[in-house]
Amino acid sequence: MCGIVGIIGNEPVAPLLVDALKRLEYRGYDSAGVATLEEGQIARRRAEGKLKNLASRLNEAPLYGMIGIGHTRWATHGKPTEQNAHPHATDKVAVVHNGIIENFKALRDELRADGAVFQSETDSEVVAHLVTRELKRVNDPVVAVRNILPKLHGAFALGFLFAGENDLLIGARKGAPLAVGYGDDGMYLGSDAFALAPFTDRVAYLNEGDWTVIRRNGAEFYDAGNVLVERRIITTQVGSGLVDKGNHRHFMAKEIHEQPEVIGRTIAHYIDMATGDVRLPTDIPFNFKDIRRICLSACGTASLAGLTARYWFERLAKLPVEVDVASEFRYRELPLDKDTLTLFVSQSGETADTLASLRYAKEHGATTLSVVNVATSTMARESDVVMPTLAGPEIGVASTKAFTCQLTVLAALAIFAGVQRGTLSQERARELAQQLIASPGQVADALLLESKIEQVAHKLAKARDVLYLGRGASFPLALEGALKLKELSYIHAEGYAAGELKHGPIALVDEQMPVIVIAPRDHWFEKTVSNMQEVAARGGQIIVIGPKGTAVNAALTPIASIDMPDVVTEFAAIAYSVPVQLLAYYTASIMGKDVDQPRNLAKSVTVE
Ligand code: AGP
Repeated sequence: MCGIVGIIGNEPVAPLLVDALKRLEYRGYDSAGVATLEEGQIARRRAEGKLKNLASRLNEAPLYGMIGIGHTRWATHGKPTEQNAHPHATDKVAVVHNGIIENFKALRDELRADGAVFQSETDSEVVAHLVTRELKRVNDPVVAVRNILPKLHGAFALGFLFAGENDLLIGARKGAPLAVGYGDDGMYLGSDAFALAPFTDRVAYLNEGDWTVIRRNGAEFYDAGNVLVERRIITTQVGSGLVDKGNHRHFMAKEIHEQPEVIGRTIAHYIDMATGDVRLPTDIPFNFKDIRRICLSACGTASLAGLTARYWFERLAKLPVEVDVASEFRYRELPLDKDTLTLFVSQSGETADTLASLRYAKEHGATTLSVVNVATSTMARESDVVMPTLAGPEIGVASTKAFTCQLTVLAALAIFAGVQRGTLSQERARELAQQLIASPGQVADALLLESKIEQVAHKLAKARDVLYLGRGASFPLALEGALKLKELSYIHAEGYAAGELKHGPIALVDEQMPVIVIAPRDHWFEKTVSNMQEVAARGGQIIVIGPKGTAVNAALTPIASIDMPDVVTEFAAIAYSVPVQLLAYYTASIMGKDVDQPRNLAKSVTVE
């Protein structure tokens, strides 16, 4: 995760850019840089390491331009060196980038064939050359950026500065946050309002897919379809501290929208983006080829991440996985042995039942590996191996970004295990890693369905009971959907294996009960469609979450369809978490429930 800032001012902006970057260092600080216009030409100062090194560089060689952009980096592609530090530039344009451009290799090859010469190993530099090439064609910076954005696949936020344009900055958002600041004597662009707080408390956030044209007299916003739109200017209170709701009503909404960025950051922690190989962030005291089974234990949503991963370990690494909720696991007297790996999943790392299960495993000589979001937690300290999720602080009691980051880590682990056990070739492992790398972009695409999902939520808000169905790796997501709806809206909901419906629960189906079917185009898709038809034949009120046309092709007339991006991936559960989360969020919001702090719950259950 990186930090972006831009300023159109009436004084030299370099020192102001550094001030703003200081407030973005929490996003990453392995290198930093600024670019300004000096007599109309792009000039850069960049430095490896902490921001103070950039400040020293600027003291040695000051910049005086009154328009510029800046960046603080958490390396994903390419080592943290000055050469790889942003801004990346040609003589025409400088760009700062937060996120992952998944298709950068293809774009780089295409641009090289057109004569582009690259200076860095980063995916970001591709954007500078793309805009430069388009500028030659259209000779208009705004049109050039508009034309190249659709070529970029992945989740990203971007800031652009152009030679000869001393009253123009452009920003773009797809899956990573970006805000425009309205100052008394300048206009600003930043990854969040906290970065802009020294200059203004009036900000407008870009929505998913938006891009913005910023000049001294204000900003224009365009949506993903290049339609001119209005974005509300809000007054923020972020002076107090880092964690605020941004432009969202609830922390949960903000955290759902942070998912493309934090999933991307987690992926970059486990996958070498240059080679596409999974490489764990820490050594493990075993080889997966010596592991005979995994016993996985967790609570609530975390346990459902584990249940999802069971399909991936068994399919990819041919490794049997037993999953149990920690409150049962710890009392089972389960025999453990040295070739059993015990795996624990927890956002807080403090959940009493999960911690007790971890201690049971240690007492019985098993190796303990924990996937946790809080690196300083008790579970992190007591585990033999810690695999962190990089979701950042999760304030909403309902777990969202932590869940999808848990899925991401477990998917990477399953690929790694498959390679060690010889069940995955290097080539197949890289294919799967690329599917994982595509997840942030798919999550960002799913977020574009938000207003449709809000409409569908109105159908749930009136329900007394709701059923969620899924098969294979979507079955745990059906359980998660039901859990989210229960804990947020207090509506009774159940998740079921779609194939199990006919063994009793189908008696529940009638014209009153919404049946939500999670049907990504995966190995179980056709069977899931058959189950939908069983429900429809009994008057069930079906809501389909699947590729566009699923209901039509199955000759079904659902009460609603949520048309997801039609991607074939082993890890569809990651992107399909978004509609499940948003359905629960909007149902509870419509019902006026306390979304961030539902009744009877706690963010971390530290008692039995
Ligand atoms: C998530 O929506 C729930 N609030 C809850 O089930 C949670 O996942 C569970 O309590 C486990 O918490 P942990 O991940 O911090 O261990």
